[in-house]
Amino acid sequence: MSQSLSNEQLIGIANEYGTPVYVYHAEKITEQYQKLQQAFKQSNAKIFYASKALTNINILKHIRSLGCNIDCSSVNEIHLAIRAGFEPASILYTSNGIAFSEIEEAVSLGVNVNIDSLSNLEKFGKKFGHSYPVGIRLRPNIMAGGNLKISTGHEKSKFGIPIEQIDKILALVQENNLFICGLHVHTGSEIKDVSVFMQVADIFFELAPHFPELSYLDLGGGFKVPYQEGETGTDVSLLGEKVAGVLNKLKETYKRDFEAWFEPGKFLVSEAGYFITEVNVLKQSGSIIFAGVNSGFNHLIRPMFYEAYHRIQNISNPNAPTQLYTITGNICETDTFASDRALNEVREGDRLVFYNAGAYGFEMGSNYNARFKPAQVLVSKGKSHLIGRRDIFEDLLRNQVEVL
Ligand code: LLP
Repeated sequence: MSQSLSNEQLIGIANEYGTPVYVYHAEKITEQYQKLQQAFKQSNAKIFYASKALTNINILKHIRSLGCNIDCSSVNEIHLAIRAGFEPASILYTSNGIAFSEIEEAVSLGVNVNIDSLSNLEKFGKKFGHSYPVGIRLRPNIMAGGNLKISTGHEKSKFGIPIEQIDKILALVQENNLFICGLHVHTGSEIKDVSVFMQVADIFFELAPHFPELSYLDLGGGFKVPYQEGETGTDVSLLGEKVAGVLNKLKETYKRDFEAWFEPGKFLVSEAGYFITEVNVLKQSGSIIFAGVNSGFNHLIRPMFYEAYHRIQNISNPNAPTQLYTITGNICETDTFASDRALNEVREGDRLVFYNAGAYGFEMGSNYNARFKPAQVLVSKGKSHLIGRRDIFEDLLRNQVEVL
């Protein structure tokens, strides 16, 4: 049975820690990791958790305890990973548009690095030559992903070195005697269609002979998870089978072994997260009923930023008849979480839960309108632990320098 937290548990947490509050469920993360292990058993693919989804140190420690590796998108994320106990060999730094000094720092920490521009590849070659194995991030010119903002592989995307520049890559590799150990492509987030990953695998298949020291093929993250009721995510078992087939074909053709790497973020933590808010005000306007909650896009930006759908439930009045509500935040500009949503009758003071809040929820939060960031709670083995305290007033001034 799938792991989830009950309404009673969520109400208990809201009573104990107050709202708004993010709640994470350790066993659900474990379950998701086990699904991947099962799916990639045959191909023995390596999983790197894309930590940008949620970097709370306790979440990182839990994920490390499962035996998972970690993908980072900044040097600070690398330092957090090290703090959580990850070995450098299990850390991957997939960079994009960064200063070369960050790559030098990543090398000094001994982690795996994927480089995403010709200029940094050249600097890397001049500085490290053949002494440090490195991966290349490519842009495959494939449009995929849930919406344009989270599509990263298309021909207008800033990510990766455009595949049509392969001759330039090869020239740089040769000139600088670079040790290319990996090829990387991340086409986007929320990719349901397994064939997108297979298109990338085809590209790797073609390119492999150009890189005699190649050992890993990194297909990025982006597995889709269900956000709406009745929706299905990426069929990771099918993907696992296909990947095993590709690796076998590579072995037969090129007479050597390759590893497949993946960097899922949402798949591991999205469904493990709940965001509990409380209804401040109800306001009727014509046929619309606004339910204004004690949160806003400063806490969960996905609906406003990506028009993302988050399932919402009134856990305080679950058996009441449903009505349509427009759920709004308290930020002083348009701030809509959902329009015309059927919820069990909402009363002021009721708790509304947002599901799929584990990935890119708290992590993309801000203090806009000088509001506090919410508390974070981890439920593990049936017990709740405060893993991030709610801001207090001093936090708003912490980095300010009062000169007047
Ligand atoms: N690898 C790389 C290089 C990435 O850039 C990302 C996500 C991932 C892996 C993990 O993707 P995932 O498995 O989580 O889909 N904030 C957006 C998603 C942006 C993802 C950015 N990169 C959202 O809330 O939908």
